[in-house]
Amino acid sequence: MHFLVLRRVFPPALLAMNHHGIASMGLAIPSRYLDVRDLADLRGVDPNKYTKGLGCHEMALCAEGEDVVTLAAAAARRAIERWGGPLSDLGLIAVGTETAKDMSRPLSAFVAEDLGLDGHVRSYEVKHACYGGTLALRQALEWRASGASGPKAALVIASDVALYAPKDPGEPTQGAGAVAMIVAEPRIAEVDLRSEAYAKPVFDFWRPVGESFPKVDGPLSLECYNLGAERTFAALAGDRPVADLVGEFEALCFHVPFPKMVKKAVMHLGAANGWDEPTTAGLFETKVMPTMEDNRRVGNAYTASLWISVARALRGLQAGQRIAAYSYGSGFGAELLTLTAGKDAAAAAWAADLEADLAARRRLSADDYQAWRGA
Ligand code: HMG
Repeated sequence: MHFLVLRRVFPPALLAMNHHGIASMGLAIPSRYLDVRDLADLRGVDPNKYTKGLGCHEMALCAEGEDVVTLAAAAARRAIERWGGPLSDLGLIAVGTETAKDMSRPLSAFVAEDLGLDGHVRSYEVKHACYGGTLALRQALEWRASGASGPKAALVIASDVALYAPKDPGEPTQGAGAVAMIVAEPRIAEVDLRSEAYAKPVFDFWRPVGESFPKVDGPLSLECYNLGAERTFAALAGDRPVADLVGEFEALCFHVPFPKMVKKAVMHLGAANGWDEPTTAGLFETKVMPTMEDNRRVGNAYTASLWISVARALRGLQAGQRIAAYSYGSGFGAELLTLTAGKDAAAAAWAADLEADLAARRRLSADDYQAWRGA
């Protein structure tokens, strides 16, 4: 069993025929972080549980004055500057988030205010746990493809601050970050119109109105995440073996609640499709693990997590090379998307964002963190 021979590379001339995809990208993470080994010391847990058991390394944390809006606006400014168009060429701003600031006013209004964006623009927030950013992107893409957009572009942002109650089992998976994308001509990547979604109403992770932290049924959330992956890959493969589908991609990106979860999902996919374990483990090492390098340093940034992984995977791709992106949001909804690199992927201008933010951020001590959380 192997996954490499069936790669399909689309010539750049063909790509020019589709005008919908990611034209530019900007990322932002907050200015502080905690090493999960320091959290383990604080909580009296073996650090190997966090680093090896969950695969986590560092978690991005907001400083005073930083929040879901400042992260979203910082990422958006970077994406807009690289795109080069005027704000008046944007006909849509959609923010996927589960860190709502208000039950009525959309997060997009807070961000638009910060950016000075108003006028003939549709502005809204999308909520479906970690899946909200992907839904915002799909809507923008389909808005462009329908022709309703006219010549206008969309600004799509996935932004979240993920915090659990102190001492919650999810605490080592905390994180924060934002990814902004201008949806217009596919200079960085065409997002294929065909995708496969799968949903099932469950309570695996939810945050009741008025409560600061989520409630989690951890084992159910793991089960649902795996089920979504199994069903969406099978649906996209159709009559073909899933291995053939997987063989087309340079990289497979997943929503990353914590890296070990992604490995579990890939192993589940292998077992569901009858692949032997070394083959599936090899697939994980070569096509999945490298996409999570930034996620390991950011933690779970909810809606932004998948797109941080996609931003990593697109770096340096040649036009025509393809990747897959599996989105999961508790509740639950999942969707498998495919992307084809455009001419600007090779230069990967957006890579500078995380490099700058990671280099500038300050490491908190366990004492700093405890004082900040109050526990
Ligand atoms: P837990 O129950 O504390 O962990 O929390 P555990 O006891 O299951 O251990 C985890 C792993 O560490 C196990 O490995 C242990 O063996 C290992 P596994 O058997 O699974 O391979 N371990 C060790 N390894 C080395 N040395 C040691 C050691 N001790 C133990 N000394 C849980 C885990 C996932 C439940 C928790 O982190 C949690 O509740 N997380 C939040 C929920 C979550 O992230 N779910 C993921 C799927 S749902 C999702 O992605 C959506 C989400 O992003 C939200 C949204 O959509 O908005 C969360």
